[in-house]
Amino acid sequence: MNKIIYLDSAASALKPESVIKTEMDFLRDSYANAGRGVCARALAVDDKIANARKKVADFIGAKSPEQIVFTSGTTDGMNRILRIINDPVCDDSLKNKTIMVSDLDHHSARLPFEVLRNSIACKIVLCPLDSQYNLADADLPKSDVFVITAMSNVLGMPQDVATLISAARKKNPDVITIVDAAQFVVHKKIDVQKWNCDFMCFSAHKIGGDTGLGVMYIKNPDRWISPDKFGGGMVAGITGNAVNNNYSFQWENAPSKFEAGTLPITQIIGFPAAIDYIEKNRPNLELIKYLHDELSKNKKIKIITERDATLCTFVVEGMHVLDFGAMLGVYGVCVRVGNMCATWVHKLLGIQGSIRISVGPWNTMDEMHQVVDLINNILK
Ligand code: ALA
Repeated sequence: MNKIIYLDSAASALKPESVIKTEMDFLRDSYANAGRGVCARALAVDDKIANARKKVADFIGAKSPEQIVFTSGTTDGMNRILRIINDPVCDDSLKNKTIMVSDLDHHSARLPFEVLRNSIACKIVLCPLDSQYNLADADLPKSDVFVITAMSNVLGMPQDVATLISAARKKNPDVITIVDAAQFVVHKKIDVQKWNCDFMCFSAHKIGGDTGLGVMYIKNPDRWISPDKFGGGMVAGITGNAVNNNYSFQWENAPSKFEAGTLPITQIIGFPAAIDYIEKNRPNLELIKYLHDELSKNKKIKIITERDATLCTFVVEGMHVLDFGAMLGVYGVCVRVGNMCATWVHKLLGIQGSIRISVGPWNTMDEMHQVVDLINNILK
């Protein structure tokens, strides 16, 4: 094997030529800041950003581009949502509130709330799981905030987000629902109106877009009065008199209110090409089924994902997962190993870490044959 076999798209996808070209052309020929200038070049950038925002809104089934806030990624989005909804100014403090999370959550979805529990009195409850480790809508505890992982980055099964949200609203019509769609977006069409979620986040880099860019969808951006970040581009005016300390700020409308500072302009301009690409080129999950079938024949391998999952995650007998990952790396095979920033699901399974194979649109069945042979040889 003398070339790289990249099987780590769930961590970050390789970039399509169309994204690279769009960004390179922009950087070389038409670069300017966004939302700052009035010359033709700056206005052309504003148009491109507006088009990208509309493209994202259509991609996820949002009603309007105003519901789309650009962030630096899912982690940024999930952390920011907590600050947006924990807002004493509009009576939305999370003090004494009940937050429902789950053992499928990635650290970025759950840790912000776990840490909040240490600083203010809020209560964490767990969403029940069924026997296959999917989120179960029966017997949901009543909650004020519900964090939903639409697809675990370890188990790779799509969750029934719409049903879960509807069940949570039966318990509390005012529950604030937040969806982490970082892995889901790679494999399935997101429909935020069908989900009826209040917030949703994903990252561009997992679908072939650039790093440093994410999307935070907000169903009712005007409901959330206070921005969570401050800086240029989000202040509409300052009124009053600084001399007697009697003045106030007016914020721009959403999405500008939530986009302080210079945007990741180049990454946003490349993003529509990534969306076009993933819509036409979803990863071939027959490759995952093949891996599941072949690797499960090896008695030293214990697969923890379902055959129809979007990932193949496993542990091997007699070898630490980090050693196994390093060994595959020596042969040019790139996989993810460790706890994958998802400690809770590993605790649930009674293991410290695992080995994860994920495929992107570029992977082939021939590569899977090579990888199965290699794994069987290493474990001989
Ligand atoms: N959360 C990413 C992963 O699952 C980085 O690998």
